Amino acid sequence: MSMHTEFPAGFLWGTATAAHQVEGNNINSDFWVMEHAPGTIFQEPSGDACDHYRLYCDDIQTLKDLGFNAYRFSIEWARVEPADGSISKAALRHYADVLATCHEYGITPIVTLHHFTSPRWLMKLGGWESAETPKRFEAYTQAVMRELGSLIPYVCTINEANIAVLLRRMNMNAGAQSDGDSQAPIGVNADSAGGSFAAWMQACAQELNTPLDKLKTFLFTSTDAAQTLIRDAHARARDAIKSANPATQVGITLALNDVQTLPGGEALAATIKDEQFFSYLPACADDDFIGVQNYSRQRIGAEGVLPNEAGVETTQMGYEYYPEALEGVIRMVAAAGKPMIITENGLSTEDDSRRVAFIQRALAGVRRCLDDRLDVRGYVYWSALDNFEWVFGYRPKFGLIDVDRATQQRRVKESGRYLGNIARRNALGE
Ligand code: GCO
Repeated sequence: MSMHTEFPAGFLWGTATAAHQVEGNNINSDFWVMEHAPGTIFQEPSGDACDHYRLYCDDIQTLKDLGFNAYRFSIEWARVEPADGSISKAALRHYADVLATCHEYGITPIVTLHHFTSPRWLMKLGGWESAETPKRFEAYTQAVMRELGSLIPYVCTINEANIAVLLRRMNMNAGAQSDGDSQAPIGVNADSAGGSFAAWMQACAQELNTPLDKLKTFLFTSTDAAQTLIRDAHARARDAIKSANPATQVGITLALNDVQTLPGGEALAATIKDEQFFSYLPACADDDFIGVQNYSRQRIGAEGVLPNEAGVETTQMGYEYYPEALEGVIRMVAAAGKPMIITENGLSTEDDSRRVAFIQRALAGVRRCLDDRLDVRGYVYWSALDNFEWVFGYRPKFGLIDVDRATQQRRVKESGRYLGNIARRNALGE
């Protein structure tokens, strides 16, 4: 049975990027400071990234030529508001050009307003534990929607609103000593580059000229206070978007593992599903869709969160190679009774044939969910381009398109043609 004939007409077929990971030189962001502070835990700085701030037109044309009909990207708050209260018209004009390019090529833009990075000045206010932040995020959203709202059909307000909760759980599982409420992100040796995680955070605070107890970045602050403010920021942004352009569809995205319960793991599995998903449902109640982001599964047994079984295939990130996780997560999210868009799914590998197989199996799961009438509106692969994978640098390869780090030359991978062909033939109703 050929894959492409079994998806509804109008299904969104896209790829995703995030400003900091692809644009280059996001120098007003908190991440830029963190990457360059002494003792950094980052493997390398983002630097020019994929020079997408300059090359976006060619990249969007490539996505169109491959057959995609959607593109998820983020607008960078640190560019739009480089200083507290001062909006850059030039930055807004840049994103207007990106949006216009999408529309020119018949590509539906899905805009993320916050994708992990925050303006460095926000950290002076206390970051994601400052009562000011939701209002600042609302004002930024209003500025974007005032200028660009008519060009934006879909908004993901905040990318992976629950990521700090996941990182906290993953660090607990890894037995890492938490360091107050800022914890070394998973997979990163807190005592990297000769310094400790705490010493590095101290260096970041110094660089930002802010007291350490105010340095509450989005990724590393998992307190209940931060979670409350994130939900408030989302609600304010959603209201601002709807009042600017009621037609714009609004959602939040959540990082969701397929949580699988083994005997004895029932209670912990329920706790994890609640902390990572069900506890966000009240904040999503007035949303138009839920953005689902999935990479693998988590097996929960009597001993807790289980490590990968010996010998299983894993990705460059150490996740189990398990594309069926997407179906499991879709079936969990369906309980919310809202439309879903798969806003991220993919894997990091140098072996593109494994990426093709992953996509084929993940989409087979989406197809089974559609057969059961679950309301999935689109599939967005992470990522369009091999890009800056945060603390892990450029080593992990998630892209459908290879980027030569020395020349910025793009080379489409077989997986890009594979997924693009499914999109193209679905659009033709073949
Ligand atoms: C995330 C972010 C992306 C990552 C991707 C691969 O989910 O962490 O949305 O920025 O690069 O998920 O890890």
